[in-house]
Amino acid sequence: MIRRAFLSRPVGHFLCAMLACTLAAASASAQQTRDSFTPQLGQSGKDVMWLPSHDQVANMMLRLAAVTPRDYVVDLGSGDGKIPIAAARDYGVRALGLEYNADLVELSKRRAREAGLEAKVKFEKADIFESDYSSATVVTLYLLPELNLRLRPTLMKMKPGTRIVSNSFEMGSWSPDETAFIGTTKAMLWVIPAHVAGTWTVSYQRKQPAAPATINLRQNFQKLEGEGVLSQARMSLQYARLRASDVSFEVRDDKGALLSYKAKVEGNRMVGTVSSSRGARIAFQAQRGDAPVPFAEAKATPEEEAEAVRALGR
Ligand SMILES: C[S@@+](CC[C@H](N)C(=O)[O-])C[C@H]1O[C@@H](n2cnc3c(N)ncnc32)[C@H](O)[C@@H]1O
Repeated sequence: MIRRAFLSRPVGHFLCAMLACTLAAASASAQQTRDSFTPQLGQSGKDVMWLPSHDQVANMMLRLAAVTPRDYVVDLGSGDGKIPIAAARDYGVRALGLEYNADLVELSKRRAREAGLEAKVKFEKADIFESDYSSATVVTLYLLPELNLRLRPTLMKMKPGTRIVSNSFEMGSWSPDETAFIGTTKAMLWVIPAHVAGTWTVSYQRKQPAAPATINLRQNFQKLEGEGVLSQARMSLQYARLRASDVSFEVRDDKGALLSYKAKVEGNRMVGTVSSSRGARIAFQAQRGDAPVPFAEAKATPEEEAEAVRALGR
């Protein structure tokens, strides 16, 4: 206030106008720098450099994840934004790109705007190791084997059925559910499995005196093994499968009939049907008494970390 009192009105207006012009020029030039920003292949990034997925590979990744308009796709380390933009453009889906480099974020936003997709696609400047993307139903990655391993415990906590797709790089000992190739480039799909390990007490719609009363499940990511137990008899589970929350397995009952179980798991409850090779099909339910076993394998072992480094020949 005191300084303003010393300025005559015309001089004050002139200085204000100058300041406004300078600020406008500075902001226009910053805008111009941003608008003319061209990323360089291999430019360094926080944890990995920028290299874009090839268009066809990006498309293969979205196909592999079987993206539908109900999905929410998040690309971790989204570079120039091509995967979220392709997801919104080709699949009508909502998408988010998380990228540490602010220039790449601005470039991505501009491309989304130019494609008329800014309502569907968002980009944020963020560190993928400090971000919450737990509402994603599809997560896409083109990072590095060791970064995939670092992300793995977080990914494994996502809702069962969430699909993770990676361009080129694996997830240590967690084998993919599906792999697709374009030339020598591969994309892999992992479906987050429900946590089903434990002891399940089974009750059948009708009494099944020869069928297991208890099912013990052991789990290594989506791989399952275990046995059915009836009094002292133990029956190994065969063809045990787990995809998202869908579990299935076969067991030969005490009388030699083959029983095929198909069920959905929700928390400590399993609900499904069991079909006998003798033709009967009945409903069953199972309850897990113990707390869900924490998924210890998600944290990378030293062997997996060493293998991740070896995989890149470093
Ligand atoms: C190999 S590029 C992949 C770009 C894009 N996902 C694609 O497939 O075209 C990896 C990207 O991750 C970004 N990045 C590296 N570390 C990051 C971090 N900690 N958080 C967010 N982004 C990161 C890099 O800047 C780079 O743009």
